[in-house]
Amino acid sequence: MKVLVYCAQKGGVGKTTLAASTGVYAAQQGLRVCMIEMDRQASLAEWYADRRKLGKDEPDFVLIDNAAKLRPVLAALAKEFDIVIVDTKGEDSAFTSAAIGAADFCVLPTRPLGVDLKACLPTVRSILLAEKPFAFVLNQAPSRSKRVEDTQNALAALGVVFSTIMVARLDHADAVATGYGVTEFRPDSLAAHELRALWLEIADKLKTSGTAHVKAA
Ligand SMILES: Nc1ncnc2c1ncn2[C@@H]1O[C@H](COP(=O)(O)OP(=O)(O)O)[C@@H](O)[C@H]1O
Ligand SMILES: [Mg+2]
Repeated sequence: MKVLVYCAQKGGVGKTTLAASTGVYAAQQGLRVCMIEMDRQASLAEWYADRRKLGKDEPDFVLIDNAAKLRPVLAALAKEFDIVIVDTKGEDSAFTSAAIGAADFCVLPTRPLGVDLKACLPTVRSILLAEKPFAFVLNQAPSRSKRVEDTQNALAALGVVFSTIMVARLDHADAVATGYGVTEFRPDSLAAHELRALWLEIADKLKTSGTAHVKAA
């Protein structure tokens, strides 16, 4: 079982949105997926409740209210799932450190804004201290702007930057606000296309991290 962690100290960068849609798409690919929420805002729990009302029972979901529970919960899930996707809260905390410590790979969503770039430094530091592999993904990006390329270059000095750019598209927000992943909400949309491309990059990284095997889409 692989553990994928979405983390970023900054709130509003897209951790929950990308975690939810990634989880749905990985499940669509036939993987056994469990989502873990470590955010007292419980936005992923709301998404999951909406999903249950839609009659959808994949991916699975666990809410953890105490950082110390993460390890035992992961141990219990290891036989049943191919991948666990952890959505963390937007601050440096025991929750986030525990999630990073358990990660096979971390994804750090960042908007192309100076304020986000500065805010990602403590998260990068925590990931490096834990010696975990990670990549940035640019999210909520304008569709055409030199700023995107500038941000990618700036981030490349700190670590790997995924080449997929997640553009600001209402389909991302609308899908997750209604209990869907974007690839089931509007499979033919540009947003869904970008999400699938992001998953390919993540799956590729997961293949070479940790011990178990996750097949790419
Ligand atoms: N690529 C995107 N395009 C449009 N809206 C997005 C995108 N990513 C996130 N959002 C929206 O931005 C807001 C913050 O995203 P969220 O996933 O809750 O961030 P975080 O979990 O990091 O706090 C939400 O309203 C979400 O719907
Ligand atoms: Mg969130």
